[in-house]
Amino acid sequence: MRDASPQTIYLREYTPFGYTVEEVHLTFDLAPSATRVTSRIKFAPNPKATDRTFFLHGENLSLVSAKIDGEAVKPVVTEAGLTLDVPDMPFTWEAEVQIDPAANTALEGLYLSNGMYCTQCEAEGFRKITYYPDRPDVMSTFTVRINGPHGTLLSNGNPVAAGDGWAEWHDPWPKPAYLFALVAGELVAHRDDFVTMDGRKVDLALYVRPGDEGKCAFGMQALKASMTWDEQVYGRAYDLDVFNIVAVDDFNMGAMENKGLNIFNASAVLASPETSTDGNFERIEAIIAHEYFHNWTGNRITCRDWFQLCLKEGLTVFRDSQFTADMRSEPVKRISDVIDLRGRQFTEDQGPLAHPVRPESFQEINNFYTATVYEKGAEVIRMLKTLVGDDGYKTALDLYFDRHDGDAATIEDWLQVFEDATGRDLTQFKRWYSQAGTPRVSVTDSYKDDGTYSLTFTQSTPPSAATPAPQAQVIPIAVGLLGPDGKEVLATQVLELTKDTQSFSFPGLTARPVPSILRGFSAPVVLDHTPDHAFLLAHDTDPFNRWEAGRNLGRASLLNAVTKQAAPDTAWLEGVAKVLTDDSLDPAYRAYCLALPSQAQLAADLHEMGTTPDPDQIWAIGQDHRQALAETLADALPGLYARHQVDAPYAPDAEQSGMRSMGNVVLSLLTRLDNGDAAQAQFDSATNMTQQLAALANLIRAGRGDAALAQFEAQWKSDRLVMDKWFGLQVMEAKPDDAADTAKALTGHADFNWKNPNRFRATLGALAGHHAGFHARDGSGYTMLADWLIRLDPVNPQTTARMCAAFQTWRRYDAIRQSMIGKELERIASTPNLSRDTTEMITRIREA
Ligand code: TRP
Ligand code: ZN
Repeated sequence: MRDASPQTIYLREYTPFGYTVEEVHLTFDLAPSATRVTSRIKFAPNPKATDRTFFLHGENLSLVSAKIDGEAVKPVVTEAGLTLDVPDMPFTWEAEVQIDPAANTALEGLYLSNGMYCTQCEAEGFRKITYYPDRPDVMSTFTVRINGPHGTLLSNGNPVAAGDGWAEWHDPWPKPAYLFALVAGELVAHRDDFVTMDGRKVDLALYVRPGDEGKCAFGMQALKASMTWDEQVYGRAYDLDVFNIVAVDDFNMGAMENKGLNIFNASAVLASPETSTDGNFERIEAIIAHEYFHNWTGNRITCRDWFQLCLKEGLTVFRDSQFTADMRSEPVKRISDVIDLRGRQFTEDQGPLAHPVRPESFQEINNFYTATVYEKGAEVIRMLKTLVGDDGYKTALDLYFDRHDGDAATIEDWLQVFEDATGRDLTQFKRWYSQAGTPRVSVTDSYKDDGTYSLTFTQSTPPSAATPAPQAQVIPIAVGLLGPDGKEVLATQVLELTKDTQSFSFPGLTARPVPSILRGFSAPVVLDHTPDHAFLLAHDTDPFNRWEAGRNLGRASLLNAVTKQAAPDTAWLEGVAKVLTDDSLDPAYRAYCLALPSQAQLAADLHEMGTTPDPDQIWAIGQDHRQALAETLADALPGLYARHQVDAPYAPDAEQSGMRSMGNVVLSLLTRLDNGDAAQAQFDSATNMTQQLAALANLIRAGRGDAALAQFEAQWKSDRLVMDKWFGLQVMEAKPDDAADTAKALTGHADFNWKNPNRFRATLGALAGHHAGFHARDGSGYTMLADWLIRLDPVNPQTTARMCAAFQTWRRYDAIRQSMIGKELERIASTPNLSRDTTEMITRIREA
């Protein structure tokens, strides 16, 4: 069915709802195709509102009956909701609606996943469950009665009572409807408990489908670690008697922070050494932490409206990144976050989807759960912390929790807390929330004989449709200086760039220093600076900038290969070789030092330089560089490989994962020299998924993956999450000319369940992420993706719309490719009954 007609919503038009909700009672009579939802809701006129229109959201509902204070009423019902004249005093609204969970393939509202009932209400899914003011500033306690199948029946809050086929739950914490959740089905629980710092015992459970019991231990441990960390670092304790997590196979995103009942994509919580990679374990730990941390940053303090999404998401991403840094390695986490930020958020900022961290308008809010809101939102908080210092940050956060507990707050509230706690004027800083685009910072320097060194910074942000005239922002630039001998002569200092151009002097030096700028990536900007990268790679004391120097060398080498047909740069080869063989460095860190910028990144850089990127050429040059590195290191590789094997029983911790990631980077180089013999040996002896999957990838690259792929499939065909890897890997590792065909063949596989978002993303998402394959000269990648997006849209608009972003960079490419993509975009746009989600994405992508 077509969504309610597209309409643009503006931040500036916010008005509070005319009524407050005092209490919500819901009764669910669950049946796959005819679930009855009975609601009893106490409303009262909202003294803070002037408009008394009584409008309740509601979509895809059939209204069976409606009453006000016990009297039957006849509301005016449209596709979007209902209106009714109501008393100008407190009253009780009762309604009975019927919904069809079995037909709900969009996975928003109440739906069925493998026979299990579950909900997803953020952002606006509750209106598909019953009529309600479905907006985050309307908060209420909820009491829920579930009449359903035998088995597990869960909702938010604390359990009240239960019997055979029924259960009652009460959530004492007022919450917006987007945090509502219900789960019912045949589930098994992995249980544990936790005693809070104030001495309350909390029963913890992770509910999974029978058969998945063996994949729960790690998630539970991560939950307990998160609870402890939030108490120790933020002073925040949990606030209910139970905390439940449920794993669901069919889910649009990673996970959801519903109060007391987090619902997870199975891929974001289930783990075992045999079936999950080290990367999976790390991601699961981070997502569990993220959703748990939302209990305070999101749930206890929620958002006034969806424009404030970054209030909860930016802060919660920042908190989960701090947690991961504490649990694992801070520099390694920083490097991986920055790679991700540049790959996703900078791309967004540089293209037609650019928007501020706090957008000012939208048609479909689901399209704004973006890297800008999440990841740049987290960077903005990181900068704020840098500017006010650790103590200032702590004071401000304590004040935030104190002042706004129970509120639906705004970015203005958030910044006010920092101003009040630290006395700092944040007027200019606020531009980080309102301006789209990534600032570019260029640097010049000078040295005078009197020993004074100065740095001059110039900032400018490229204009975009979202921000046509950007103004100067506050940019914290962490700087250190190294002497000519490589010793640090000035420890890290944070400079505050507030003007378009600004100079900073460092007196008292004895020789011209080498600057190390933007240490720790202290601001989400593009730094235009070409110092002596090889020198910094050898000497920088800041681990991030040392990595960055090596990356810059690699990037320059790749760019020179494209624009000047240059051979791989020896300074890069030698510099990386030194880092790689330096056993005093953390193996995980060394593995990162070896990675070259991605092909998409290179295409962006070339475009920026005014050169049209050629995806085939970029692919070939990447291959040449890796081959050159393998040959340079040929003698060292077997020893390095041997030294990075783990003998101890598998543990997904930082130390072992670092060893394996280094070992597998070395394996990928070795494979270029030994035709895959080492990879075959690793595949045959692997006892965990990290080793098995890395070996398989290398066998495919070496052109001898067929037997291993068949063996892998036979071994794992009944494991959904492992089979996602099997689908994805074949596309990712395909040669550019084969990528679309490989994806096409896989979509014909009996296990290609395209309605399952994980499987769809594993296959089509891998194609979209295969730079040279997606952009294959014949347009096969574009057509393939467009075909499937058109097919998926009526079934699952959210997942379709998100994947449209694959086309956001289309203006970077040559005229032929642009015209092919333009035709596919046109074809998608002209599909009858295209969803609001996809319409908005395609329109934005085509417009700019
Ligand atoms: N709030 C969730 C998070 O960041 C993400 C989320 C938003 C979501 N909308 C969703 C998850 C829809 C699943 C489906 O943790
Ligand atoms: Zn979140």
